[in-house]
Amino acid sequence: MSYDLVVKNGTIVTHTETYQADIGIKGEKIAAIGTDLLAAAGNGKKPQVIDAKGLYVMPGGIDVHVHLQLPFCGTVSADDFETGTRAAARGGVTTVVDFAGQDPEKGLWAGIESRMKEAEKKVCVDYSLHGMITKWNDNIRKELKKCMDKGVTSFKMFTIYEKEGWNSDDAAFFSALTESAQTGATICAHAESEKVMNYLIDLYHKQTKQLGAYGHALSRPNFIEEEAIQRLAKWAEVTGGKLYIVHMSTGEGANQIRAAQERGARVFAETCPQYLVLNDEVFKDKKNGHLYGTCPQIKKKADNARLWKGLMDGEVSVVSTDTCTFNKKQKSMWNGDFTKIPWGMPGVETLLPALYTHGVLGKKFDINHYVRLISTNPARMFGMFPRKGTIAIGSDADLNIFHPTKAKKIDYKELATNCDWSPFQGESLAGFPVFTVSRGEIVVDKGKWIGKVGRGKFIPRGIGEDVYIPANPRRELAAARK
Ligand code: URP
Ligand code: ZN
Ligand code: ZN
Repeated sequence: MSYDLVVKNGTIVTHTETYQADIGIKGEKIAAIGTDLLAAAGNGKKPQVIDAKGLYVMPGGIDVHVHLQLPFCGTVSADDFETGTRAAARGGVTTVVDFAGQDPEKGLWAGIESRMKEAEKKVCVDYSLHGMITKWNDNIRKELKKCMDKGVTSFKMFTIYEKEGWNSDDAAFFSALTESAQTGATICAHAESEKVMNYLIDLYHKQTKQLGAYGHALSRPNFIEEEAIQRLAKWAEVTGGKLYIVHMSTGEGANQIRAAQERGARVFAETCPQYLVLNDEVFKDKKNGHLYGTCPQIKKKADNARLWKGLMDGEVSVVSTDTCTFNKKQKSMWNGDFTKIPWGMPGVETLLPALYTHGVLGKKFDINHYVRLISTNPARMFGMFPRKGTIAIGSDADLNIFHPTKAKKIDYKELATNCDWSPFQGESLAGFPVFTVSRGEIVVDKGKWIGKVGRGKFIPRGIGEDVYIPANPRRELAAARK
């Protein structure tokens, strides 16, 4: 058989296996996996070759939570569809899922179409969209099925952001989850209790001068997220709908997800690197504390530990980033008032290295579980598997090829993201791609972007799977170490 690209001598890693083999790629797809594929290819047209000796070859990362060029907090997030997806490729991420707000007059699908227009000439890797429901009504309810037939099968709703006009009440969530049970749609939820949170924000705002950015942490204690998750999980349980909690930041949240799953509810969650490796001490830094302001905010060390355990035990099934890049100038809009911080930070480029370094090299889980959390589970949860999320014949040839241990010291100046700071500045992280292959094309070569802008495609998605992980990889890893 002839190939366009052969990845030879690498160690293939999927969510279940680690083995030595070559990968033969024809066009955009994986056509063969085996030994000595170059010899078997005969004397026809010579394929491109990547020598992956000493490197891991995994399916490309999938970040199911990014906000590129999002108008938010009085500004627009600084990574647009071009810089954000180039940064993704430089970090080994080959698919991102952004959000499309409903059009206030024309509805959900119109909002999705206009977001696709914003993306299509700029995207450097593949992308998809979640619908973003900001006003639930009967027309939107009827539109869910239409969006699903066209490949948008998940929808984000918010319990907060009253000022932005984005928040939904309990009845809206209940109705959306009822519709989810009938159609298979996934309802993604930003879960924080707005009324009590606003009460606390007002309380701490009176001391904003003394508290600085730390007022942000004080005004959103853990029970703010916990209570909202508990309530939404109940609506999922009684309706049979599928609920996916986005950017979960607390240990209490993980307890709620576990309890809901044990009751048989279809409740799942993602967390993000900032909630795993940073803690709320960052807000005490008088000069730079405000840079770390996100929504929900970064919590405590105990939350880091519980969320890692959730990833190891399985109740937290995905790691995404909630990338919403704001540079220092944009962040300076806070002007000493924690309620005015533009919420969000860069992340997609450092997602894989942060999780690989802290998770795999930190001996929290094995490399197969890493692939599961960062590629296979997001693909399965959001209806892209097995096109994405694995290395198999017929799958898209999306690959992240990286060195097992070589680390690089993070310096925002060397990152592709359009930002003048990094939450991981100065940290040594391994797991950056030497090569990124996106649908059969080498787009990152020895760490450098060589692809074309606008080459990414919209990926229509099917109904997502419910992904429970009964196995406990942490226990397996501990047993293997003995
Ligand atoms: O701080 C954040 N997360 N910004 C983006 C909006 C959201 O809630 O995801
Ligand atoms: Zn959110
Ligand atoms: Zn978000």
